[in-house]
Amino acid sequence: AMAKLRLKVNGQSHELHIDTRTTLLDALREHLHFTGTKKGCDQGQCGACTVLVNGRRINACLTLAIMHESDSITTIEGLGTPERMHAMQAAFVKHDGYQCGYCTPGQICSAVAVLDEIEAGIPSHVSENLAARPMLSASELRERMSGNICRCGAYSNIIDAITEVAG
Ligand code: FES
Repeated sequence: AMAKLRLKVNGQSHELHIDTRTTLLDALREHLHFTGTKKGCDQGQCGACTVLVNGRRINACLTLAIMHESDSITTIEGLGTPERMHAMQAAFVKHDGYQCGYCTPGQICSAVAVLDEIEAGIPSHVSENLAARPMLSASELRERMSGNICRCGAYSNIIDAITEVAG
């Protein structure tokens, strides 16, 4: 069935008339043309489609657009622009945190959320099992970023970039 809905993306409200089965990812890319958000696997395994929903990261391919009418969605386009980059975007550039760039928007959205999760004291699989809870160790960051696959293997530079922003 078709439905009318409103989505708030990057601070702006958009009206859509779409099939109720449309994923948030397809709504963003195909209907609203926020093509910075990428489709890799379309089944929750690669993280290329990661966006922020009310500040928390989500795989946009795994959720329906109609579930997010009251949410505030941020895509890579909303984090920063080439002229005014978000600190995480600038750090990825500085540390070469990419090669082909396809996974990068998802990596950056995820990285921004990771630092917020750590700030909020949300434990990860790693930190739960460590008495000392070194929340910003490379292994901690790798664990928290493990849902974002990079086929070029830019992982160590990605961790360097996140570490710099974490300060
Ligand atoms: Fe959503 Fe791969 S496209 S996780």
